[in-house]
Amino acid sequence: MNSSGLFITGTDTGVGKTAVTTALLALLRARGVDAVPMKPIQTGCLKRGGEVVAPDLDHCLRSIRFTPTVAEAEWMCPYRFVPACSPHLAARIARRPIQLRRIRAAFRQLAARHDFVLVEGAGGVLVPLDERRTMVDLMRTLGLPVLVVARPGLGTLNHTLLTLAALRAAGLTIAGVVVVATERGRRGRIERDNLASIARLGRVPVLGRLPFIAAKKDFRATAERFSRDWKLQPPVFPTLGRTRVTLAQALANARA
Ligand SMILES: Nc1ncnc2c1ncn2[C@@H]1O[C@H](COP(=O)(O)OP(=O)(O)O)[C@@H](O)[C@H]1O
Ligand SMILES: [Mg+2]
Repeated sequence: MNSSGLFITGTDTGVGKTAVTTALLALLRARGVDAVPMKPIQTGCLKRGGEVVAPDLDHCLRSIRFTPTVAEAEWMCPYRFVPACSPHLAARIARRPIQLRRIRAAFRQLAARHDFVLVEGAGGVLVPLDERRTMVDLMRTLGLPVLVVARPGLGTLNHTLLTLAALRAAGLTIAGVVVVATERGRRGRIERDNLASIARLGRVPVLGRLPFIAAKKDFRATAERFSRDWKLQPPVFPTLGRTRVTLAQALANARA
């Protein structure tokens, strides 16, 4: 497909993919880019009234105060499952196989109506969708550059380098790595070395870091402030003007 979007994956569940998606949505929208979220497959949905709420999508939409139409909400999250488990198991329990062409069609509908679509994966790259396919197959279907969200601390080198290897083996374009401090703590020697080692051994740009943001702070505003330093810039986000933006630079380089 094209580059009117970015796929956000991670080294695991709970690493900060939704947080990064929120930060980028806030950042892009603050610069006048009509960016919207998509969470093609959500497990662990909540039943509220007659509705099945997808929490990650809900979080992103609320943070940017965007109310989609009914059709758009369906495109933004076509597969909603209640059990909080892997998509392959949730789909099996619901007897509702995940069809990649349906997700691609939903993405196209959103991309036709908005400037930019930020697509959040579920779990990590090799999370199964059924007996045969994994999240990597979904990424290949959409053909977007992939941003990897990783933990900053001990254990991240193995997880991140494995993730990058799987993305490369699938022929996907890697936009870079962002680390998120989902826990309170000081940046020590290990973390500093981790970032340098990921860049060197993974042969990718480490675009930035989202620090721990205490609950009492305005997450959206703080996340937006920090993600500014990730230096997104044209030509990948043409409407941004001449802002310093490394993520986009990485995307542009990756596409060249
Ligand atoms: N920068 C941050 N500061 C504080 N808490 C964070 C930060 N980023 C994420 N979290 C928290 O960590 C948990 C996992 O983050 P989330 O973005 O939902 O991960 P994922 O989407 O990868 O599952 C959530 O409870 C979220 O609120
Ligand atoms: Mg999430």
